Amino acid sequence: MKGVILAGGTGTRLYPLTRLINKHLLPVGRYPMVCYGIERLRQAGINDILMVIGKQSAGLYADFFGSGENFGVKLNFRVQESAGGIAEALELAEGFIAAGEKFVVLLGDNLFLDDLTPYVQQYEQQQSGSARVLLKPVDDPRRYGVPVFDQKQPELITYIEEKPKHPKSKYSVTGIYMYDDTVFSIIKGISRSARGELEITDVNNRYAEQGKLEYDILKLWWGDAGTPESLREAEVYMRGVLP
Ligand code: G1P
Repeated sequence: MKGVILAGGTGTRLYPLTRLINKHLLPVGRYPMVCYGIERLRQAGINDILMVIGKQSAGLYADFFGSGENFGVKLNFRVQESAGGIAEALELAEGFIAAGEKFVVLLGDNLFLDDLTPYVQQYEQQQSGSARVLLKPVDDPRRYGVPVFDQKQPELITYIEEKPKHPKSKYSVTGIYMYDDTVFSIIKGISRSARGELEITDVNNRYAEQGKLEYDILKLWWGDAGTPESLREAEVYMRGVLP
C-alpha cells in the first residue's frame, strides 16, 4: 500500500505564524508537525509516500526531508498551485497510485496516537471500489464531518454531514481516509462547494450512497492541530512519539 499526506493549504486559523511558514512545518515538540503522519504510515508498513504541498515553504520541505531516507521512507512531492480543497489536493495523487492499488490518505495536521496497522489490514479485506474512514468521538462534532450510521448494516456509514449545526452522532470523521484508484473518477464527478472547494466529504458521500463506506473508531487521542489551542494540545499528547 502507498500513502498520501496532504500538507498544502493556507492555515489561516494559525495566522500570523502561517504567513511565514506552512502550517504542517510548525513545531510539535522537536519535529515539524507533518513528521508524525510520516511515522504513522511507516509504522503501518507504508514506505512509499506522496506529499502534496503548497508553493509556500516548498524549499523547506526539500531541505528538511530530502528523499525521506532519514525517516525510513521514500518521499515524493507534488505542488498544489491553489487552495482548492482537500479533494483537489488528493486528485494530484493520480498517477502515483496504480490501477487497483489501495492507499491511505492523511491530512497533515491530523495528529494521533493509534497505530494504523489494524485499520489498514481491515481495509485490505474490503472489496475494491470501497472506502474506509476513521472516526473519533469528540466534545463538539459541529467542527467536523459527522457520520450518520446505517440502521440495518451498522458497519456502514450512510451519510456524512460537513460541520452540521445539529450533529446526528458524537463522532468526527478524522482526516484519515483509505481509498483505491476509483477515488479519482469520483473526484472528477463532484462540484465545488459554496466555499469554492472540492470537498472530501462529497467524495466520501459518493461511497456512502453506494453502501461502500466502512469505518473504524480510533482508540487513543486524536486532534487536528489547525488552531493555536489544538496545536498546544497536540504538543502535550505527541510528546515522546518520536525520539
Ligand atoms: C476537514 C474535513 C472534515 C474533517 C476534518 C478533520 O475539515 O472537511 O470532514 O472532519 O478535516 O480534521 P477542515 O479542518 O478542513 O475544515
